[in-house]
Amino acid sequence: MKKRKGIILAGGKGTRLYPLTLAISKQIMPVYDKPMIYYPLYVLMEAGIREILIITTARDNSIFKELLGDGSKWGVHFEYAIQNEPKGLAEAFVIGEKFIGKDNVVLILGDNMFYGGNLKEILKRANARENESTIFGYKVNNPNQYGVVEINEQGKAISIEEKPEKPKSNYAVPGLYFYTNDVIQIAKNLKPSARGELEITSVNEAYMKKNKLVVEKLGRGMAWFDTGTHDALLETASFVQTIQKRQGLQICCPEEIAFENGWIDKKQLENLSISLMKSDYGKFLRGLAEDID
Ligand code: DAU
Repeated sequence: MKKRKGIILAGGKGTRLYPLTLAISKQIMPVYDKPMIYYPLYVLMEAGIREILIITTARDNSIFKELLGDGSKWGVHFEYAIQNEPKGLAEAFVIGEKFIGKDNVVLILGDNMFYGGNLKEILKRANARENESTIFGYKVNNPNQYGVVEINEQGKAISIEEKPEKPKSNYAVPGLYFYTNDVIQIAKNLKPSARGELEITSVNEAYMKKNKLVVEKLGRGMAWFDTGTHDALLETASFVQTIQKRQGLQICCPEEIAFENGWIDKKQLENLSISLMKSDYGKFLRGLAEDID
């Protein structure tokens, strides 16, 4: 299978979260018991992706490096790049050109969280499409706040619009995009939109016009949150707290998926838990290491 690399876009000014984000990146903020970036990172790792580029503002770059390092503690490899101004999601592929090289790529937004349903299966399917790109459709009440995809009876996208006033469907496009390598060229040829951004929706439209876009609907068993507002941040944290407390399991724990994928062994997992032992998170890791032989 053609190799696929991952990009987490964790820049932007987070203006909808002011004053929280005046001095610190949104994607470093807590979502209950973990930094926000753990959630999208988990999704990439769940998809089996081990080479990941993390794009941040110049201001916050060193904090992410301090938090995540080079990835070796989790059996993955992180690289870092800076986006000087928030010029749009599609700029990730221009910034990431060298990192992507000749491989396929998946982009996830640093403030998106996915949980449940058949996430693993869905990621596997999207990953396996070597010659087509995949985006997702998630039914929401307020589609006008998102990219909106209209899907026909054959499951094909027939229109994609960014935050339309009159949405043609209730299907929002979450911030998770599996692209073929030509996304670099597509992104380079984009012109900034009316709001001055290189729009991811324009990338998706380009694939739709080439008949190379698959849209997978995420079913009702899947939770998708984008944590870009105060309410969304709190609601996502409450969701995580509720499920974790009820089940005694962790949602989107990178160490767990690294272990499950065989990228770190029991001893490494145990070592990772040591400095975290004062928290339930650390105790969960220790439990994992002890349970499985
Ligand atoms: O969350 C899904 C939605 O994300 C999609 O449905 C939309 O089609 C897509 O445009 C995007 O909409 P948002 O309005 O939520 O995008 P926002 O500007 O908030 O950026 C999303 C994340 O990406 C946020 O964490 C900041 C980061 N970002 C954003 C821009 C524009 C960057 O790192 N660099 C950027 O240039």
